[in-house]
Amino acid sequence: MKKVKFLKLLSVGESLNPWMNRLNASREIAPVTLPNCRLIKGIETGSEDIDILPNGLAFISSGLKYPGIKSLAPDKPGEIFLMDLNEDDPRAVELRISRGFDLASFNPHGISTYVDTYGTVYLFVVNHPHQKSTVELFKFVEADNSLVHLKTIRHDLLTSVNDIVAMGPDSFYATNDHYFSDFILMFLEMFLGLTWSNVVYYSPEEVKEVAAGFYSANGINISPDRKYIYVADVFDHNVHVMEKHADWNLTHVKTLQLDTLVDNLSIDPYTGDIWIGCHPNGMKLFYDDPENLPASEVLRIQNILSEEPAVTRLYADNGSVLQGSSVASIYEGKLLIGTVFHRALYCEL
Ligand SMILES: *[C@@H]1O[C@H](CO)[C@@H](O)[C@H](O)[C@H]1NC(C)=O
Ligand SMILES: *[C@@H]1O[C@H](CO)[C@@H](O)[C@H](O)[C@H]1NC(C)=O
Repeated sequence: MKKVKFLKLLSVGESLNPWMNRLNASREIAPVTLPNCRLIKGIETGSEDIDILPNGLAFISSGLKYPGIKSLAPDKPGEIFLMDLNEDDPRAVELRISRGFDLASFNPHGISTYVDTYGTVYLFVVNHPHQKSTVELFKFVEADNSLVHLKTIRHDLLTSVNDIVAMGPDSFYATNDHYFSDFILMFLEMFLGLTWSNVVYYSPEEVKEVAAGFYSANGINISPDRKYIYVADVFDHNVHVMEKHADWNLTHVKTLQLDTLVDNLSIDPYTGDIWIGCHPNGMKLFYDDPENLPASEVLRIQNILSEEPAVTRLYADNGSVLQGSSVASIYEGKLLIGTVFHRALYCEL
């Protein structure tokens, strides 16, 4: 409760403007519509992250409970949905999770898939049971639409994990913000301009910080040639391109500045384009006011490594259809747009 008051206090002060800019508190957006979109039946309480396999199977994490942000079903455990984008009229199906996994405290956040040389699909899920941070490793069994829980990964360097990108069957890069470890600290960082958020490489043999100095490292993903890692800094409104080295360390290549809160990044495997779910007026995420709904915005970045990357707004909505978009993921002309706590949109481009 104390935390919410802290936010309210900040949200009233005009004099706090430079601080509020980090949340892009007041920007109103002109709508950009896409013709063939529908809300996805069955997904009503968030679709925080989406990862699509090369064969068109999309995994969707749902039901995230974020400190300070409303949940439409606070008592319902999180879920993972599957959608087969090869179908004419794809439906979302909830995946059954194997016995022995503590479903009651399942609070799924960022997800990432890895397919090994035998075709086994591993699903990494950032989890926040009881406000802690773990990474859950599952094996996907297509025959019965289930997830078999393989292990729970915890580490002192995985303090407050937001997103993850799989590098192997048990290794990954993860971004840490301070949202779950210390919500107040995260806001202080944001408002005081501290840059304590980082990227960690994890494998059973080695765990280390590989990049630091972010305001709030959020979405993370990898280029199709697997040479570059992209990190979205949500409160700094930008995307960092980092080069990946043989020792897994990351070095900074360039930063693309945007005018919106960039959340999850997804990559078109064919073109390398980066698709981003964004929050054009982030402060509204913390309101609970039907007159002031958090908007949604989808950006596409083409040729990020070139001198002049092209940034296109492909979708924007004031919250009347879709509230608080956090991810946009593409598969052969089919677009899925997910949200922090609201619904999910399926579009045919
Ligand atoms: C996706 O969006 C949510 C909502 O803000 C964000 O907190 C989360 O970190 C993002 N997940 C990924 C995978 O980036
Ligand atoms: C949001 O957009 C819809 C459609 O563009 C419009 O009808 C509605 O009045 C807008 N709502 C607000 C609060 O601006």
